[in-house]
Amino acid sequence: MAMTTTTTTLFHPLLPTSSYKSGAVTSSIVSFPRSQFPSSSSSLQFHSLVSDSTSIFGRRKFTGNLRRVSVIVSAAGTTEPLTVLVTGAGGRTGQIVYKKLKERSDQFVAKGLVRTKESKEKIGGEDEVFIGDIRDPAAIASAVQGIDALVILTSAVPQMKPGFDPSKGGRPEFFFEEGAYPEQVDWIGQKNQIDAAKAAGVKQIVLVGSMGGTNINHPLNSIGNANILVWKRKAEQYLADSGIPYTIIRAGGLQDKEGGIRELLVGKDDELLETDTRTIARADVAEVCVQALQLEEAKFKALDLASKPEGTGTPTKDFKALFAQVTTKF
Ligand SMILES: NC(=O)c1ccc[n+]([C@@H]2O[C@H](COP(=O)([O-])OP(=O)(O)OC[C@H]3O[C@@H](n4cnc5c(N)ncnc54)[C@H](OP(=O)(O)O)[C@@H]3O)[C@@H](O)[C@H]2O)c1
Repeated sequence: MAMTTTTTTLFHPLLPTSSYKSGAVTSSIVSFPRSQFPSSSSSLQFHSLVSDSTSIFGRRKFTGNLRRVSVIVSAAGTTEPLTVLVTGAGGRTGQIVYKKLKERSDQFVAKGLVRTKESKEKIGGEDEVFIGDIRDPAAIASAVQGIDALVILTSAVPQMKPGFDPSKGGRPEFFFEEGAYPEQVDWIGQKNQIDAAKAAGVKQIVLVGSMGGTNINHPLNSIGNANILVWKRKAEQYLADSGIPYTIIRAGGLQDKEGGIRELLVGKDDELLETDTRTIARADVAEVCVQALQLEEAKFKALDLASKPEGTGTPTKDFKALFAQVTTKF
């Protein structure tokens, strides 16, 4: 990390001996543990005792005149990548987030949590991909060790009842496997992850939920008679109350389409569900997750997320401005 100083001699307990020099000093390379920097700040200011005159070598006692000046230490050049765990990394959106993090290896160290060996193989994961069930706190504990941030993309997945014949019309029926209801996965499973992350000192959690949670009668709650949105909402509230910096992304209907080519829309309280723009590409949700990890404007916020249809509006590139539009904490 590069540090710019005033043109004089530095004396500060945090500076290594090699930084003590006399005369004009314009820059010096100093390493600090990441923990000494607030993740949000681009600069850190501290005061040093500085000599007007010539020399302070090492920590030798200095008896000349000392005066107090400000030394600006820029953290903007911090290049240490964030270590991020994506859970549900074998899922359709989770896979994209995991891939994006891997591709941006200068900014992130990607880790994943999947449920099965097959999922691990599917995403080409090696040692950094853990296999575990989020309903089991012990299975999560090792995966969260040493991470800076967590992206939660796990969800109960409804199964279609056998015997549905599309040629006969009608709607398929869905069910959840015993023990894998939204209550167990979307509530207990997410809660387990939040608790484990908190215990491990994780600095940020991004949780992908769903729009529709303000309406108890939303049709999604009828699937398998399992109140999926109710349990998702409960987990969201638990995260918001956890004290950990969070971003809750309540997505509209997910589509397996190309990302980065639509204007994204943020909203609150399901207002977007009353409009014609209620869907979003999984790739766009994934990008918003990744951007949320890097932007202060995303923290302590919950947002509904959809997009304009392709070809209308201007594709979103400025995610800082997107998050800045969000004023809701929940
Ligand atoms: N579908 C929509 O239109 C829609 C709309 C709005 C929001 N959402 C929400 O957006 C999020 C992402 O959706 P998606 O369709 O991309 O997800 P998805 O493909 O259904 O992936 C869910 C992932 O959760 C994992 N999982 C389930 N139970 C688990 C457990 N007990 N332990 C560990 N992992 C478990 C699954 O693992 P396996 O791969 O092993 O099954 C799967 O990888 C979800 O929260 C979803 O509810 C969806």
